[in-house]
Amino acid sequence: MSLAITPLTGSTGAAVDGLELARPLDAAAFAALEQAFLAHGVLVFRDQHLTPAAQLAFARRWGEPVVTPMLKALDGYPEVVQIADMPKERATTENWHYDAPFTAAPPKISILCALTVPRGGDTMWSNQCLAYERLSDGMKRMIAGLRVEFAGTRIGRYMGIDPRDIPPPRAHPLVRTHPQSGRKALFVGHPETAVRLEGMTEAESRPLLDFLYAHSTQPDNVYRHMWRVGDVVMWDNRCTMHYAVHDYGNAPRVLNRVTLKGEVPA
Ligand code: SIN
Repeated sequence: MSLAITPLTGSTGAAVDGLELARPLDAAAFAALEQAFLAHGVLVFRDQHLTPAAQLAFARRWGEPVVTPMLKALDGYPEVVQIADMPKERATTENWHYDAPFTAAPPKISILCALTVPRGGDTMWSNQCLAYERLSDGMKRMIAGLRVEFAGTRIGRYMGIDPRDIPPPRAHPLVRTHPQSGRKALFVGHPETAVRLEGMTEAESRPLLDFLYAHSTQPDNVYRHMWRVGDVVMWDNRCTMHYAVHDYGNAPRVLNRVTLKGEVPA
């Protein structure tokens, strides 16, 4: 079967068929994947059933896997985090977010493999380039040059981390430019994460940040993935936000995640 790339919505995500990710990718296949990834932000590969070693080998084609502090890694695979045992009251990922925006250089790509899938437990992604491009020229002019402060307060509280151990908020451009595609993307987040605009009070910042957050996550800007065991989904953490829906009670849900080193947003 030859490589086929099919958009999944009018905004976000594409399905890739005709590839076995456990086998080495040739240069032509990788180039086609990279082009699709830059165009759609999220790539979905069904029926892959990757081992942690194969997931890491695939991830290394795209960049440098990183060890994520605070999250539990698999024995023998420090760069593979297992997402499991996440009760709803501690579901840090049940909100629209970028991964680790409060760090100096947030990861550029994340890759998930589904091992155990409940009924439900979908993940959604939003296209932050389209979110920017759909703004009026007046709004684009108004937000050009603004910076937003991201805090780890919410994730720290959900994970029971002493607030004194949480690093101070980190400011990044509210409109960042993708280093490969050159497209601009809105860099926003949950109100407890994207806390304020630099140089402004929270009260002054909230209306604009709340508008941009709600604008980004409208249904016409979202792909919702219904997981099957064996799926691999990779996303561009420079131009998409995601949201893990927790509607599965105590049923088991197990995904392995590899995250790749990113650049300082500019
Ligand atoms: C994540 O936010 O990295 C995990 C997403 C998920 O559990 O679906």
